[in-house]
Amino acid sequence: MFFVYFASLIYLLAAQGEEESIEDDEFLKPPPDDEGSLAHPLHRTYLQDSYCMDGTQAAAYVYEGSTDDLIMYFYSGGICVEDSTKFLKYGDYVYIDNCTHRNTTFYGTTNGYPEEFNANQGLMGNNKYQNVHLRKAHKMFLMYCDGNMWYKQMNAQVFKGALSQMKLIPKRIILAGSGVGGWYLVNKYNELRTVIKEFYQEDVDLRILLDSVIFDISRNQDIIDAYTEATKRVGLTMDDIFSFDALRKVDVPTFIVHAQYDWWQLEISDGFDCIGKIHLDKCTPKEKKQIEKIRLGILQQLKDLMKAKPDWGLWAISCVFNELIIWTEAWNHPKFQVPMIDGGKLSDKFQDWLENRGDNHVHYDIVSWPDNKPCSNIFHNGKTDPQLDDMIRNYEIKESRRKREEKYDL
Ligand SMILES: *[C@@H]1O[C@H](CO)[C@@H](O)[C@H](O)[C@H]1NC(C)=O
Ligand SMILES: *[C@@H]1O[C@H](CO)[C@@H](O)[C@H](O)[C@H]1NC(C)=O
Repeated sequence: MFFVYFASLIYLLAAQGEEESIEDDEFLKPPPDDEGSLAHPLHRTYLQDSYCMDGTQAAAYVYEGSTDDLIMYFYSGGICVEDSTKFLKYGDYVYIDNCTHRNTTFYGTTNGYPEEFNANQGLMGNNKYQNVHLRKAHKMFLMYCDGNMWYKQMNAQVFKGALSQMKLIPKRIILAGSGVGGWYLVNKYNELRTVIKEFYQEDVDLRILLDSVIFDISRNQDIIDAYTEATKRVGLTMDDIFSFDALRKVDVPTFIVHAQYDWWQLEISDGFDCIGKIHLDKCTPKEKKQIEKIRLGILQQLKDLMKAKPDWGLWAISCVFNELIIWTEAWNHPKFQVPMIDGGKLSDKFQDWLENRGDNHVHYDIVSWPDNKPCSNIFHNGKTDPQLDDMIRNYEIKESRRKREEKYDL
């Protein structure tokens, strides 16, 4: 598999090795003669006047689709700082390297990027199994390589050059971003919107899709220091990122995808060693209580934000994850649903919002881990736990109560 996914892939592979549950079903294999079941690779292109840390030209991977939709995806990857010794203990997962080191990795140079990218999944996938609604959309997967939260490699001119490489006049553009890619969009959407207006000179339905942006790093001074260093370097302040105030300024319809137990937030930033990127099984009752407080605090802010932004959408699952939209497992998989009962797949909910179908675009689990059972990695050898069956029943009851209450706005 492709090395850009190195760190995330290790995470997924580790998750599958440790828990038998993830790999058990048919959905991981596309049916052989399903229409469009062949996955097509994305093709490498270079962006004009756009450079990585080591001076190599920044790259993107392109899929030429056949609809009026264009998806421009800004990848995640943290930052670089001068001294990363405090973060070495976390390994690659922290996504905070020193700049000298990052210079030589795939987050700092496009040296060695292959011509074709085969591991595209989820929103970047182009078959029915990976990406049921948007598989035929035109796509550009923008690779992150400046260590500066996109601020060095991307600007209005570069973005215009990127658009000019796409062979369509789009009716709709989805600016999608994970992590720092998402925060870049939050801060720069206006410039990008201006470019889009000028370039196409007609109405384009512009949407933003934010995935796994972190909302709170307040409990870890080392992380605060690191991001302060990186934001200063590019002329931002800390209020421009990790902040609901920054989000509130955005005046483009935006859909937020959030794991209520984002492992980067909990494990790296909040320092819970018990997470292990997969589950909360190893956390003590006391830790679980602290984690709940953090989760509910963020969820409340998201709910408030949605009240203030009637044309926005939210999909927030009660599971341990980070980066949901570019993994088929999370984007278009029956095990990842909110609510967990039929019909809550992220790809479906996002599409409903995109097409302005239905009147509720705010979807969040109201239960704690592991009550969204299918996505919680807690099946052991297919045996179900009677306690969990109770949880599932309670979930259904609570969920229908919530629906009722929302309907009458109690
Ligand atoms: C830079 O990163 C490398 C690789 O992670 C590490 O071995 C080295 O100690 C780091 N140096 C500083 C000053 O952070
Ligand atoms: C990164 O690599 C380039 C090219 O080799 C070099 O000029 C630059 O000084 C390096 N930057 C850092 C921070 O090591």
